[in-house]
Order: sequence, then C-alpha cells, then structure tokens
Amino acid sequence: MPTVTVTTREDVEHKLEIVPGISLMETIRDAGIDELLALCGGCCSCATCHVHIDPAFAEQLPPMSEDENDLLDSSDHRNATSRLSCQIPMTAELRGLKVRIAEED
Ligand code: FES
Repeated sequence: MPTVTVTTREDVEHKLEIVPGISLMETIRDAGIDELLALCGGCCSCATCHVHIDPAFAEQLPPMSEDENDLLDSSDHRNATSRLSCQIPMTAELRGLKVRIAEED
C-alpha cells in the first residue's frame, strides 16, 4: 500500500494511504487531521492547507501556479519547501513522500 507520511504541528506522524485522484489536502482531511483547516475546500483561495514538502520529492510535484505562489506569499511561515496541499494530486509516484503541516498564520 503506497503511503505518504504526514507530521502534525505536535510532531505526530501519520502514515496515510495514497488514493490516486484526490489531493494531498483531501488525503489529510479525510484522515481526520483537523489542524489542516482547508477553509476554501481546495479552490486555491485560502492558504490554510499550507504544508512543507520533503525536498527530495520537489521534482515530482506539479509546478506551482501564480495563484498558489501569491497565496503562499501571505504566509509568515513560507519557505522553499512550502506548497498548498490542495494543489498536489496524489499519484502512486509519491509513495514515501513526507510532509509537515505548516504553522498556522
Ligand atoms: S484549501 Fe484553500 S487554498 Fe488549499
């Protein structure tokens, strides 16, 4: 079973099954991890689904859109590993991906 490992703000690790076709945000939300607010439901307009991605997987992710880039700029916790998890579709190639939920703004 391909999984992604999600670390919460309290340093709790969750191994979640990759279901191709849904987003990383939905994967985290559907697992009941409620610190990822995802207020806009995945339409790239809130930035409350901010995560930090293992840089080893950066090449395998879809490029960042201008909207995603602009939204991330509004976060005090943005760094080079920041992405909005609603903009990352799950694929089997992301097996072993590690992500950390960003601090709340
Ligand atoms: S859920 Fe709102 S931007 Fe991702």
